[in-house]
Amino acid sequence: MTVERRAAKRRLEDLPAPSSLPWLGNLHQINPRRLHLQLEEWARTLGPSFTFRLGPKRIFVTSDVDIALSALRDRPGRFRRLSTMEPVAMEMGVNGLFSVEGEAWRPQRNLVTRALAPQQLESFFPTLQRITDRLRRRWQQSVDAKTDTDVLQDLTHFTVDTTASLVFGKDVNTLECDEDAIQRHIGFILPMVSYRVNALLPYWRYFKLPGDYQLDRSLKAVRAFAEEMIGHARERMRRSPGGTPNNLLEAMIALSDEPESGFSDDDVYANIITLLLAGEDTTAYSIAWAMHMLAGDRELQMALHRAALDAMGDARVPTTFADTAKLGLFEGVAFEAMRMRPVAPLNFLEANENAELAGIEIPKGTPVFLLTRPAALDDDNFQDAKDFKPERWLGRRESAREGHSARAFMQFGAGPRFCPGRYLATLEMKMVLAMLSRNFSFEPAEDPGITEEVFAFTMSPSRLRLRLAAIA
Ligand code: HEM
Repeated sequence: MTVERRAAKRRLEDLPAPSSLPWLGNLHQINPRRLHLQLEEWARTLGPSFTFRLGPKRIFVTSDVDIALSALRDRPGRFRRLSTMEPVAMEMGVNGLFSVEGEAWRPQRNLVTRALAPQQLESFFPTLQRITDRLRRRWQQSVDAKTDTDVLQDLTHFTVDTTASLVFGKDVNTLECDEDAIQRHIGFILPMVSYRVNALLPYWRYFKLPGDYQLDRSLKAVRAFAEEMIGHARERMRRSPGGTPNNLLEAMIALSDEPESGFSDDDVYANIITLLLAGEDTTAYSIAWAMHMLAGDRELQMALHRAALDAMGDARVPTTFADTAKLGLFEGVAFEAMRMRPVAPLNFLEANENAELAGIEIPKGTPVFLLTRPAALDDDNFQDAKDFKPERWLGRRESAREGHSARAFMQFGAGPRFCPGRYLATLEMKMVLAMLSRNFSFEPAEDPGITEEVFAFTMSPSRLRLRLAAIA
């Protein structure tokens, strides 16, 4: 007779947890701007799966790859984004693809995924090339003027110009305008979403603090920007009625004009803003972290310069879409930066119903925080994981080669809600890093030690100023 052995189930209360105070739980230990660092610290001392408490709420945290992937893949079934996310996004008028749950999610997902599919990127390439060259000229100007480069500012201009061109069909050219208003407003909204989603009490529904008034101003400005985009798109659609949509915005407008579509004007606004929010900081900060890590490494910069010359010849930026296939080493640089300095160090989920993950009972409504960096820095997943080695990504990335477990790289999420912008982001990162390596050498303009990790939904460098020099 065989005896069925079943692992005993564990409750959240059975898992390790940092010591906490009555009522407050671990609230006094949490600084929202360092949330990921605190959780990573606990993961080091308590192990990959543990809990902590924010007031009365017990939160499950894991950096275990199998557990994280099970939860990510079980959407929209047993897991979802935090249930505080959708109401917060809704009251801000930004309830687009990232936050939307339930039946509305699938049609929006299909629309956005199609618009950001790799096939779309080939026809978009000439525009991306133009915007990359604009960034090169801006950096050349700072070399000529002998001024330091504010990398974060320039890169967010670059990513807004790129997203707006691809998704809305409008080259807003913020890189060459002195105005940085739209970036500032976008940069303010995402931290406020993060802050409100994790707030213990939604006080802003009863009274407002200065930050809430600033948020209102930023939302108004971004909404005005979205209205301008919609105006341009409607004008183009009027000029060629009945034609197939040229971009995602036109596709969304056409859908919202269909009476039975269930896709409203508000959905169009919400998704314009969502795509600006999702596409700006993530990509810009990933490139910025890569530049921060390369800044002190003259030898690697030289090797990348040679690789850029091999791939691009005399050109200052990659000239054809086919050329981008030769930029594997630059993709490796971007992926190493994301692995070691993840802009998405946390993915916030919640159990939709009573669920179980690796024998751990997760009651309905439990927040599930997935930590992405510990597995990516584990030697079992990436050989010499603490070393910055772009070449580790060359070749067949998806193979489970020894010492390279791509499934432990969760920077773009996983499962049905994985990032639909990853192909665009990867192409943007390759283009900028290849252009940079071809044309410039660079070094820190100030002590690199003052650049800290700041968490506000995405994880950014606190500041980054570099001194660029031109290479003929
Ligand atoms: C390096 C750049 C980027 C990183 C690291 C990144 C990371 C992520 C992550 C971690 C998620 C959550 C995935 C999940 O829950 O499984 C996500 C979702 C999303 N991303 Fe990105 N992203 C990047 C660039 C972009 C870009 C360029 C766009 C579009 C212009 C974009 C649009 C979105 C959208 C719309 C979602 C929500 C998808 C859904 O819920 O169905 N992202 N991204």
